[in-house]
Amino acid sequence: MGLLAVGMVGTALAQGPDAIKLPLPETEGGKPLMQALKERRSTREFADRPLPRQVLSNLLWAANGVNRPETGKRTAPSARDWREIDIYLVMAEGAYRYDAGTHTLKRVAGGDLRKHTGVQDFVATAPINLVYAADHDRMSGAGADQKALYSATDTGFIAQNVYLFCASAGLATVVRGSVDREALSAALGLGRNRKIILAQSVGYPAGSAP
Ligand SMILES: Cc1cc2nc3c(=O)[nH]c(=O)nc-3n(C[C@H](O)[C@H](O)[C@H](O)COP(=O)(O)O)c2cc1C
Repeated sequence: MGLLAVGMVGTALAQGPDAIKLPLPETEGGKPLMQALKERRSTREFADRPLPRQVLSNLLWAANGVNRPETGKRTAPSARDWREIDIYLVMAEGAYRYDAGTHTLKRVAGGDLRKHTGVQDFVATAPINLVYAADHDRMSGAGADQKALYSATDTGFIAQNVYLFCASAGLATVVRGSVDREALSAALGLGRNRKIILAQSVGYPAGSAP
């Protein structure tokens, strides 16, 4: 498996590498929380330029990265600490799963699958579409209702982390429930027990200066 370090990764690759080791997240700075809350909003118009790897790293760490290495716990809470939500990134160069423990992206599918991540036109050109999927196999002891409830609530925390990071970093984002889950699950090669909850598009706002 090829593992490319930061800086070796081109942004215009037609086919991305098997794994992308992200740079360490920048966990200091950003806008004050109250300002980020003031600026949080949904935006549906994106510039098509890609996000630098450092911004991607910061985004994913904010979303659900490890903030307590001694326990592996995350920036978002999760019911019974199941950590059942995986984040998939669907980008022009391929689809990847975020591995929080190693802060690495692992490719799950090649090619540009962005148009499959939703029913709205902008998803095909937004540089990143995050897809939140619950692994029900990790939710030991839970019945079907609890699995549905907690995987939805746990996703909400992650999506809000992304909203606040985007507000802080001057990025545009919108969380989306309008997804053909069956088709997207097939495109990403997800098994029966992985359930897509929501998607979220992220990019620079349309018309913003590079
Ligand atoms: C669970 C959920 C599903 C949503 N699904 C969609 C969607 O499919 N498409 C979309 O454009 N916006 C979607 N939104 C965004 C809402 O439309 C948006 O949050 C709402 O209009 C309030 O706007 P604001 O986020 O700017 O405050 C969704 C929001 C949530 C919380």
